[in-house]
Amino acid sequence: MIETHSAAAPLASRAARETEPRAPGFQANQSLIIQVRGLGKTYQRARGALTLFEDLDLEVAAGEMVAIVGQSGAGKSTLLHILGALDTPSTGTVYCASTNVAKLTAKEAAAFRNREIGYVWQFHYLLPEFTALENVAMPLLARGTRKNEALGTAEQWLSEVGLVDRGDHRPGELSGGEQQRVALARALVCGPKLLLADEPTGDLDDGTAGKVFDLIERLHASHGLTSILVTHNMDLALRCGRTLRLGNGRLTESTDAEPKPLQTGV
Ligand SMILES: Nc1ncnc2c1ncn2[C@@H]1O[C@H](COP(=O)(O)OP(=O)(O)OP(=O)(O)O)[C@@H](O)[C@H]1O
Ligand SMILES: [Mg+2]
Repeated sequence: MIETHSAAAPLASRAARETEPRAPGFQANQSLIIQVRGLGKTYQRARGALTLFEDLDLEVAAGEMVAIVGQSGAGKSTLLHILGALDTPSTGTVYCASTNVAKLTAKEAAAFRNREIGYVWQFHYLLPEFTALENVAMPLLARGTRKNEALGTAEQWLSEVGLVDRGDHRPGELSGGEQQRVALARALVCGPKLLLADEPTGDLDDGTAGKVFDLIERLHASHGLTSILVTHNMDLALRCGRTLRLGNGRLTESTDAEPKPLQTGV
């Protein structure tokens, strides 16, 4: 996803947000990247309301790698979108990277995403008419970085994901695994703290999925990321430090076969 905004706006809006009153009873904790309290999400539709969850709590500490699993339709993507300021909660408080994301205007949310969050999706969403190098550079260009600098940084990121020799390939000239590696480079090129990945290996065969996951693990460790990955692959989920299961409107810790109640209050 390409954001189009200048880099100047976020600084002013961030200063304004830091003076915002916190939610009542909310204790900000700087070591936490995600602090969610009483999160509810209801979609209002002409044929009736659809409530996905009403009272979710979640805390994710800096440096954690967390998997979210659960049945199709449980609300995993919706939760990820809310955490990453792509959707808004119906109720509750959502702090992400010390920002009350539900309070952001659309423009602030776009700036927040460009600055703080790297997204990877099941489908790569690379722009087909641009080369791999240009695709990786795109978020930097969108924030106003000079073209030469943006292309230089993008080349370093292509090197990090092992694809520096594919920089002039268009997405259609890359394999599925290579496309996801380019998408990872694009997600991280602006230096976000948080990686949000929605079934990043869901469209790949098992062998390629494992290799892309290896890369995510390596980038997570080497760049000090906090990573939240939605997956249907339990083998990959169990490689994360922590696995959460979303189902029946509840979020439970699931470090073994039997889900148990989520612990909060770090
Ligand atoms: N904009 C919307 N309006 C109404 N309902 C929606 C909207 N977006 C999602 N939903 C519904 O919310 C439910 C949860 O969707 P979501 O995409 O979060 O599920 P998921 O857990 O990611 O599923 P999957 O594993 O299939 O990707 C689904 O039943 C979906 O139809
Ligand atoms: Mg989904």
